[in-house]
Amino acid sequence: MKKVLTLCLVLLLLTGCFAACGKKDPTPTPAVTEEPTPVPTQIPVEDPTPTPTPEPPQVYLKDVFAEHGIKVGTCLTTQMISNSKTKELLLGHYNSVTMENHMKPDYILSQAKSIEKGDIVVEFNKDMITMLDFAKENGLAVRGHTLVWYSQTPQWIFYDNFDNKTGKLVTREVMLKRMESYIKQVFEKLTEQGYADLFYAYDVVNEAWMEDGSMRSQMNLWYEVVGDDYIWHAFNFANKYAPENIALFYNDYNEQFKTDTLEKFVKTLVDKDGNYLIDGIGFQAHLYTEDSLTAYFKTVDQLSKLGLTIELTELDVCLGKYNAPQMASDENKAKQGRFVYDLIKGIFDRKDAGTLKIDSLTFWGITDGASWRKSYSPLLFSSAYSRKPAFFGAAQMKEYAGFNQ
Ligand code: GLA
Repeated sequence: MKKVLTLCLVLLLLTGCFAACGKKDPTPTPAVTEEPTPVPTQIPVEDPTPTPTPEPPQVYLKDVFAEHGIKVGTCLTTQMISNSKTKELLLGHYNSVTMENHMKPDYILSQAKSIEKGDIVVEFNKDMITMLDFAKENGLAVRGHTLVWYSQTPQWIFYDNFDNKTGKLVTREVMLKRMESYIKQVFEKLTEQGYADLFYAYDVVNEAWMEDGSMRSQMNLWYEVVGDDYIWHAFNFANKYAPENIALFYNDYNEQFKTDTLEKFVKTLVDKDGNYLIDGIGFQAHLYTEDSLTAYFKTVDQLSKLGLTIELTELDVCLGKYNAPQMASDENKAKQGRFVYDLIKGIFDRKDAGTLKIDSLTFWGITDGASWRKSYSPLLFSSAYSRKPAFFGAAQMKEYAGFNQ
C-alpha cells in the first residue's frame, strides 16, 4: 500500500511538471477579477510640456524686395561659396553681390608688371574670377567696389618708377595718366573677359569726405598727388570708359553726418554742359540700433532730391552705439529687429511713393560670425545660420521682428 501511494505521488508530480514546463500556448490566464478602476471625476490635466512656437514661415528676402523693384545683396568672399550653409542662404535670399575685398586696388594691380611695362597694370586675381564666375552661373548681379580710395590701395602706384622705395612721388600729370590707364583697363578687361554685363553699379570713389565738411587729406595720396579735383577726374575717366549698363557711384560712410557736404559736392560732378558725371550715391549704412532713423531719413530725403539713384551699399546694424557694443541678448536682438523693420519700411514706402530712386540694398555680409563687426552682431543671420529678428525686420514680417518682445 505504501508503494502504491508513493507511485501515485510521483505520477501526480510528473504531470504537473509537464503541464507547467511544456506549455507553449500564449493565451493569458484569465486575470483575477480586480476592483473596478474608479472613473476619474476630474478632466485629466494637460501635458505640461509647452507646445513649441511654430517656425515662422519660409520667406526669401529677394522676393520681398522684388515687390518694390529693389535688388538685395551681400558682400561676397570665397569662403561664403565654399561653406554649404552660407552658400544656401546666399542663393536663397540675395540676388546681388559686392566683393568684400577682391576688386579693391590692393588686389587688382601688379607692381612687377607695372615696373616692367612702365605703365600701371591691372591684373585680375584668381579669387575675383572665381566669384565672378559664381555670380554668372547663379544669375547674381554685381556691384563693383572700388576704384579710387585712400585705403587698401598700394602706395607704389604714386611713386616714381612704381617703386615707393624711391621716396619720390610722381607729378599730378603723371598720376592723372596712371589714373586714366587704371580705370580704362578695369572696364576693358571686364568687357574682354565677358563679365561687364554682370555689373549694374560701380563705386568709382570711396570715402573722400570728412564729417566736418573737409576733404579727406590725411593718408590720402590721391589728394596729395593729384589735388582736390581727383574725384572729378576719376568720374570723368569712368564716364569715358565704363560700359553703358554700369551706373557710377560715389560711396561713403556716416552719410547722415555729411549730408550738406555730399549735396554740395555732388553738384560739382558735372561735365562742361552741366550734365552729371555721376549716377548715384552709395550710402554705406554702417548703422547702430541707437541711431536716429528720423535723422537718417532726413539725409535720404535731402539727397534724393538731387535726382540721382541712391543705394544702400554696406548695410549692417550694430547692437548699441559706436565703441559701445551691447550684448546679443534677446532684448537687444528684438530692438535690432524693430530698427531694421522701420529702416526697410521707410525705404520701401519712399520707393513706392516715387520719392526715392533706389534699385539695390546690400548687407555687408550674411552671418554675424563672418562680419567685420562681429562683436556687435550686426547682420540678419546668427553665426549658427538661423534667422534673427533683424531678418524678419528686413522681410517686413512685423510679428517676428521683435515687436512682441
Ligand atoms: C568700408 C569699405 C568696405 C569695407 C569696410 C570694412 O566701408 O568701403 O569695402 O572695407 O569698410 O569691411
